[in-house]
Amino acid sequence: MVRVVRVIVAVSLTIAACWSAASASLAQSGDSGSSKTAGETDQQKSSQGQEDTTEEKLPPARRRYMGRTIAQTMSHRGAGWLIRDSRDQEERPREALRALQLKPGMTVCDMGCGNGFWTLLMSEKVGDDGKVLAVDIQPEMLSLLRARCKEAKVTNVKPVLGGLADPHLDDESVDLLLMVDVYHEFSYPKIMLQNIRKALKDDGVIALLEYRAEDPRVPILPLHKMSRKQILREYEANGYKLVRQYTKLPWQHLMFFGKDPDWKPEDAKQP
Ligand SMILES: C[S@@+](CC[C@H](N)C(=O)[O-])C[C@H]1O[C@@H](n2cnc3c(N)ncnc32)[C@H](O)[C@@H]1O
Repeated sequence: MVRVVRVIVAVSLTIAACWSAASASLAQSGDSGSSKTAGETDQQKSSQGQEDTTEEKLPPARRRYMGRTIAQTMSHRGAGWLIRDSRDQEERPREALRALQLKPGMTVCDMGCGNGFWTLLMSEKVGDDGKVLAVDIQPEMLSLLRARCKEAKVTNVKPVLGGLADPHLDDESVDLLLMVDVYHEFSYPKIMLQNIRKALKDDGVIALLEYRAEDPRVPILPLHKMSRKQILREYEANGYKLVRQYTKLPWQHLMFFGKDPDWKPEDAKQP
């Protein structure tokens, strides 16, 4: 028992240290205390010289949504944590991958792909006839992803530089869109959910993985966790319904959402 407690404390400290490192980098980049994130800073830099009127017309980034405080974007400076050795044991991603039920030939999206931990897993499953659209708002994350794809000789991945509120995906093009530990960072959750809805095929689904807020043993900072109740509140308000779920992962919720055919945009309860 004492040993188990020691392990949990050690993991918590490591993860807390990782997030503080990311936050420290944000503070260094001048973002502390504002609602901006490293992602926004990078996105703004990357769009210099390219007119992105859609982004310019956006209202100020949100700090809260439907009673939840939105987390800061994890900086690319902490990317090493995403491919830590212990991740396999802590999150059992291969078990989650099986639950996604991917098939060869599918077009899937890894939204908020970071350096591609999940992109590479999915690329194997959809095969040469399929495609993984790997979207992130930090160009540095996409560079890390490209390097990992090159090393693994993977050719069915298309990196996409997303906007804060627009993933830049074609309409009705995606069979399954995966979001691992990213949705709670969206500074425009409602607009993103609308744009993702457009990008999904009629029978397309979102596979959402978020650390469980209900479970105090999950050693992740509270701002980076979500409860099942909060997830359902936000997704149902934006035109999705829960179609299935997988409840056996050690740390995360895995919930699948399809388009609710009865929902109309005017039903959206919050701006
Ligand atoms: C905590 S990391 C998770 C990375 C990856 N999903 C994984 O599990 O290894 C969150 C990632 O989401 C990205 N992100 C945040 N907001 C985003 C948005 N609006 N669109 C696309 N990516 C976003 C961040 O840049 C960051 O790379």
